[in-house]
Amino acid sequence: MKSADIRKKYLEFYKARGHAVIPAAPIVPPDDPTTLFTSSGMQQMVPCLKGEPHPMGTRLTDSQPSFRADDIEEVGDNRHICMFEMLGNWSLGDYFKKEQLPWVYEFLTKEVGLDPDRLFVSVFAGDEYAPRDDESIKIWQSVFSTDKPAKVGTEGFDPATKIYLYPAKKNWWSRAGEPAKMPVGEVGGPDSEVFYDFGEELHLHENSSWSGEPCHVNCDCGRFLEIGNSVFMQYVKTDSGVQPLPKNNVDFGGGLERLAAASQNTPDIFTTDSFTSILRSIEVSSGKRYEGEYMPPMRVIADHLRAAVFMIAQGITPSNKLQGYVLRRLLRRAAVRGRKLGGDIKKIFESSIPTVVSFYSDAGFISADSSTKVQAVVSEELTRFEKVLTNGIKEIDRRQGKLDEQIAFDLYQSYGFPFEITSELVAEKGTTLSQEKFDELFKKHKEESRTASAGMFKGGLADHSEVVTKYHTTTHLLHQALRDVLGDEISQAGSNLTSERLRFDYTYSGKPTDEQLKKIETIVNEKIKADLPVVKTIEDKDEALKSGARAFFAEKYPDKVSVYTIGDYSKELCGGPHVGHTGEIGGMRVVKDESLGVGKRRIYARLTA
Ligand code: ALA
Repeated sequence: MKSADIRKKYLEFYKARGHAVIPAAPIVPPDDPTTLFTSSGMQQMVPCLKGEPHPMGTRLTDSQPSFRADDIEEVGDNRHICMFEMLGNWSLGDYFKKEQLPWVYEFLTKEVGLDPDRLFVSVFAGDEYAPRDDESIKIWQSVFSTDKPAKVGTEGFDPATKIYLYPAKKNWWSRAGEPAKMPVGEVGGPDSEVFYDFGEELHLHENSSWSGEPCHVNCDCGRFLEIGNSVFMQYVKTDSGVQPLPKNNVDFGGGLERLAAASQNTPDIFTTDSFTSILRSIEVSSGKRYEGEYMPPMRVIADHLRAAVFMIAQGITPSNKLQGYVLRRLLRRAAVRGRKLGGDIKKIFESSIPTVVSFYSDAGFISADSSTKVQAVVSEELTRFEKVLTNGIKEIDRRQGKLDEQIAFDLYQSYGFPFEITSELVAEKGTTLSQEKFDELFKKHKEESRTASAGMFKGGLADHSEVVTKYHTTTHLLHQALRDVLGDEISQAGSNLTSERLRFDYTYSGKPTDEQLKKIETIVNEKIKADLPVVKTIEDKDEALKSGARAFFAEKYPDKVSVYTIGDYSKELCGGPHVGHTGEIGGMRVVKDESLGVGKRRIYARLTA
């Protein structure tokens, strides 16, 4: 079955079971300063999992384009991708395990038509944080039962055993991973994954590095593909462990590209219909076929270009910071891999971009006329990168005599060169580099950077209830004050909050004077001092917009929206969170206002108390 049909069937299946179809969130979450990208469907749902009502009810479903940088080094094999679509359904304190698990099974076997003999599941084995998930085991036993209950296993693989128990490392889901790693305030719970079996040849074939090892459903050999995960969002992390949430929630995520691979019975997701047209463009423009040594670079180009096109179409541009930096890395990695194909990388990218644009615009995620903008951004970045590549080659020349793994790492860090590229360039000078030593440097760096990225996530979440919440409300006040002083032409062009400051991008053709900036600051502080109430209501989107509520991505909001009103001063569509009264903010100071190019400006402000 084609991926578009699987997406359609999935949404219809859950609609028929009382779910509202909600719009996908943008790839950069508008109301969440704690993460760079939307990386799962549940991200826009976090406040609701914690107990806030959702404007569209307690049963929700969608298909969410998601980006995960964690797997970037894995891309190149037959199943890892950074940019994917996640089919999701949620119960917000509504149904729970006994509905969810049989529905997953019914959807996979009856709607997608997967062979039940090829399906296996895993369940949480229990630990000091939460008990073994016996309820899910029982439900799966009755779902799989023919004449006798399905067997439960803990180790290895046996085709007669359908249900496998795993510890939290595998069967607990939160954005931060297992309970010990969750920051205070983060939601999570035990989960149950479904795996599709492509057959034991994948584990046993003669070139498999796994053939001497026992196989199991979580094995990395490629035999089993995880195609869906039901998370039972029951817990929130606190200082003393995990505590039950006010309600039991379900958070399901299923990778569309992987479901298509199972349905099309191909273990190589790049041969499913989601990728065939982009691979075809790469083949035609490079003059190489998708086979042998060309497969890994083609997969990297296809995946990274899909991600890059999507990001650029939604307004990200390459830069040295945050999302822009990730986009730059994607394009550079793809360009470097492109060298392996020979041919003109600009041509390869140029011919593939329209294919990706039409794929994502047909699905309704980006605008159909994005190609021109994307082409311009990609072409400028490639021109810049060509210079960088020349610099990398110069750096190698400069370090003649002490060419070791460190240069491979430095060039990887500075210019995004994969190990093989530096090692090839260095080999031309007669030096052989060790992949193992490079991996050691890389591992050390990864551990260090993980602790950094965890910091961003933890910092943001830990502050969610305090500083960041204050910044959220301050941003609304600032937005209105900018309009009061500079006029109605002001509209929001972006927003980013940390525990240190707020940053707000806005459209404006002029340059605000110092007096105007002072006035804006004074107005915000007056509104803070007035201790205005901040009230959340659920309204019809059109009504809310008609009544003057501001919206960042008006077209992206569902029909029913949550609206925050601050006294009689400001009204905005927003997911929150916000303070209860503006007095809680204390005070605000404008720190900087700068141009972002024609018609766009960026203002920074800090809390003073
Ligand atoms: N949130 C869960 C996941 O991303 C469903 O796997």
